[in-house]
Amino acid sequence: MSRFDKWKLIFFVVGLILVVPLFVMVVQYIHSNPSLLLPPYLGQGGIFNRTRVFSHPRESPQLHDLSGYISITTLQPLRLHCDLCSIVSSSGQMLGQRAGSLIDRSACVWRMNNAPTAGFETDVGTRTTIRVVSHTSVPLLTQRQQHYFEEANGTIYVIWGPYRNMRQDGKGGTYNALRQIARSYPHAKIYLTTEERMNYCDKVFQQETGKDRMQSGTYLSTGWFTLLLAMDVCQKIHIFGMINDTYCRAEGRKKVPYHYYEAGSQDECEKYAIHENALRGGHRFITEKAVFAKWAKTHNITFSHPASIYPESGS
Ligand SMILES: *[C@@H]1O[C@H](CO)[C@@H](O)[C@H](O)[C@H]1NC(C)=O
Ligand SMILES: *[C@@H]1O[C@H](CO)[C@@H](O)[C@H](O)[C@H]1NC(C)=O
Ligand SMILES: *[C@@H]1O[C@H](CO)[C@@H](O)[C@H](O)[C@H]1NC(C)=O
Ligand SMILES: *[C@@H]1O[C@H](CO)[C@@H](O)[C@H](O)[C@H]1NC(C)=O
Repeated sequence: MSRFDKWKLIFFVVGLILVVPLFVMVVQYIHSNPSLLLPPYLGQGGIFNRTRVFSHPRESPQLHDLSGYISITTLQPLRLHCDLCSIVSSSGQMLGQRAGSLIDRSACVWRMNNAPTAGFETDVGTRTTIRVVSHTSVPLLTQRQQHYFEEANGTIYVIWGPYRNMRQDGKGGTYNALRQIARSYPHAKIYLTTEERMNYCDKVFQQETGKDRMQSGTYLSTGWFTLLLAMDVCQKIHIFGMINDTYCRAEGRKKVPYHYYEAGSQDECEKYAIHENALRGGHRFITEKAVFAKWAKTHNITFSHPASIYPESGS
């Protein structure tokens, strides 16, 4: 053996001594962390976490922090887990449905913006666990702050809005208004959607539709933010009063006001059509509903009043 080969052999043996235990350690680590075996998009991040929760419904629910939603007072993340959630749409479809008692029987009741219960209890129920509120609707809450933040002090408020309104450096109008409310009602449970989570919600829109939200002149709806949060919080979701993406094209469809609490407001389908086709600043309600239908197939989501055939989810 030449001197050179001897050195090679020594390197090889020493290398083996170092590499083998390292390899064993890595294998053990991966086995103790099953999520590492999943593709990265299943192992982390918002909506895909749910895939795991939903595919193992019997697993004891983890009360994990929802770090995309931060308390305006304590700066702590939202912590919430519900078994069955009722999401009550603000649509005129709710009128005359007498779904109130069914809604109130679920673990958590979700409402959007300023949708009232008073005067509509038989149709929409009485309880409100959580309210998802657009920055544009915050003034509607502050107009009746005594009602929303003192009488309804058990309700969690989750506010979403763009950075320019939510910024915390004194220049964000929505944030400033909410700070004021939090000072006046220290027990109010107000959570802000973080900028990261807002970007994430945009990203999901792009992934699902192939369109850049900003470039396509789209405003996401409060329903979009509601469903993305609900899929992280709820084991099972029952959506009331939300039509599907083909409803407005069907013959003999029912004409209902856009909001159940605004009698005589524009017909829902007409409003959806205008928004769907607006070049800028339109909500894509119809597009969103097609996406919701897709999610319903893989998550525990059912629709009623009117019903859809979506929940063929099965597996
Ligand atoms: C997703 O799961 C990871 C790991 O379990 C966790 O750290 C993260 O906070 C979860 N994200 C959400 C939005 O729940
Ligand atoms: C919460 O609301 C209840 C019922 O309206 C009221 O009696 C109570 O004083 C409120 N609590 C706080 C801390 O505001
Ligand atoms: C859409 O909704 C209408 C009215 O409720 C229903 O008849 C139809 O079957 C639904 N379509 C799908 C694909 O669920
Ligand atoms: C939905 O949730 C219910 C109750 O937790 C469960 O019995 C059912 O199997 C779930 N369905 C799916 C498709 O995960």
